[in-house]
Amino acid sequence: MRIEVAATLQDCQSIDMTGKTAVVIDVLRATSVIATALHNGANAVIPAETEEEARQLFDGFPPGSALLGGERNAVRIAGFHKGNSPLEYSRDVVAGKTLILSTTNGTRALHQCHQATETLAASFINISAVADYLSNKLNDTVIVCSGTAGKFSLDDALCAGMLISLISDRRTVETDDLGKLVLQFYGSDTGNITDKLQSCTHLKYLQSKGYQHDIDYCLQPGMLFVVPAIKEGKMVKA
Ligand code: MLT
Repeated sequence: MRIEVAATLQDCQSIDMTGKTAVVIDVLRATSVIATALHNGANAVIPAETEEEARQLFDGFPPGSALLGGERNAVRIAGFHKGNSPLEYSRDVVAGKTLILSTTNGTRALHQCHQATETLAASFINISAVADYLSNKLNDTVIVCSGTAGKFSLDDALCAGMLISLISDRRTVETDDLGKLVLQFYGSDTGNITDKLQSCTHLKYLQSKGYQHDIDYCLQPGMLFVVPAIKEGKMVKA
């Protein structure tokens, strides 16, 4: 399998995704929210690019059957039910509902992958499930590190490195230069994730906003066995 890596969602525009599986990573926090919501029984998560699109989609659902979630600058969008903290999406909140989610980077990255044969969402918390799933695929893969506001982000890069490492344990992988770099950055030490991300800019920003519990949650590898995949514009369990 060949794996290419895009450093940011903007960079993935230069990659031809035709015939490939795309894997979007936004560890802090959009893809961690998506995995959590589906694990906790949400019917689907619909990634919306804009606030307006999210509200329009929400208006099309019967009362009580959908939730609006998302952030701008890490803070809940005014008038939305929930923000972008995975801890907000507990079973009692999301089970049986459709979550319409709009975030600054992660949900936009999912929209960038429309040419791909299949699009998945990965994070540390569901990394083993995604690695298992990809290990059985014949398609080449593009890992899209969402980044933060157009900039490369270490959390996504470390997760990409771990994902490539886990797949390489199961099958032969060829990767591009960025893939080699993230693999080297990850090394082989699962226990070292928090240390490696201590100086990560977005992590420090979330800490400054009081989201340490989200960070602790999002940096636990392989906790949830769920593979979110886009089917007809919605993320559902693959
Ligand atoms: C995003 O999608 O931009 C991020 O998940 C932002 C955040 O940390 O809430």
